Amino acid sequence: MTSDTGHSASAISSSHRLDGKVAVVTGASRGIGEASAHALDTAGARVVLTGRTTADLERVAAGLQHDPVVLTADLAPAGAGTDLAQRILHEVGGVDVLVNNAGIPMRRTPAQLSEADFDLVFSINVRSLVMLSIGLAPSMIERGGGSIINISSVAGVHGPLGRVAYAGTKGAVDAMTRALAADWGPEGIRVNSIAPGLIATAIWEDARNNVPGLIEDLAGQIALKRWGFGDDIADVVLFFASDASRYVTGETLVVDGGLARVTASNTPARLPELED
Ligand SMILES: NC(=O)c1ccc[n+]([C@@H]2O[C@H](COP(=O)([O-])OP(=O)(O)OC[C@H]3O[C@@H](n4cnc5c(N)ncnc54)[C@H](OP(=O)(O)O)[C@@H]3O)[C@@H](O)[C@H]2O)c1
Repeated sequence: MTSDTGHSASAISSSHRLDGKVAVVTGASRGIGEASAHALDTAGARVVLTGRTTADLERVAAGLQHDPVVLTADLAPAGAGTDLAQRILHEVGGVDVLVNNAGIPMRRTPAQLSEADFDLVFSINVRSLVMLSIGLAPSMIERGGGSIINISSVAGVHGPLGRVAYAGTKGAVDAMTRALAADWGPEGIRVNSIAPGLIATAIWEDARNNVPGLIEDLAGQIALKRWGFGDDIADVVLFFASDASRYVTGETLVVDGGLARVTASNTPARLPELED
């Protein structure tokens, strides 16, 4: 397994083009956000890259073609989402696409979880996501509509062990996706979420380095028998950002290489008495 966005420039059909559009990507400095920034730029959009680490954002921006903008921001403090929206509008005037990708994991059993942990993961993964969306929506409406893509997780769908707060944030993201799609549909803003499965990014570095065999064991539980890369998610981001998905809103698309299918089909093997 390598930790890589795997991005490659390729021909893009006309319904996937984003020429003249402005797209914001939070958490654009690596992983899924970096791959999404590349995909949107390749499709013709001017990309606004945000995250906490300026040097990393500038490294990504250096590989983009359409006058990218770097805005450093920590999305944890109260007011951060609203402040960032104002800075973005000041810098680029208006926005057509928002990819709410920035997020942190939180591995804690119920017994380990403190109120401070809970507040931190909800402040970044949920509060800033919705406040940034609310701050940018009026400019999308002024421009005739837009597309918001929220990166949630299969954790919000499955409820994995030892990740109660993280799963809660991602379930909240999917629920808010449906609610905002209803609120903003009449004004031309589509809101969808992508629930990635196991994607080889920095989030998994600890596990890769410290738990021998875990990465291979987990690959065995995926129908397609490989971990995902940033590009596997970025191509779906591009679909939701573009006109190719013009009649889709309020949906969550699981992009997990068939992880859910294998988990379900394993059940009889674990319960041999139920086999034919
Ligand atoms: N990788 C997976 O297997 C997987 C699976 C399901 C869902 N997801 C979700 O996909 C999204 C991206 O994950 P990834 O794997 O690409 O993670 P990653 O490689 O750790 O990247 C996370 C990004 O978020 C930014 N970020 C973190 N904390 C921030 C903060 N307080 N304020 C502003 N930006 C912050 C990081 O930049 P700085 O550190 O410089 O701020 C970085 O750009 C997350 O929402 C994650 O929950 C990932």
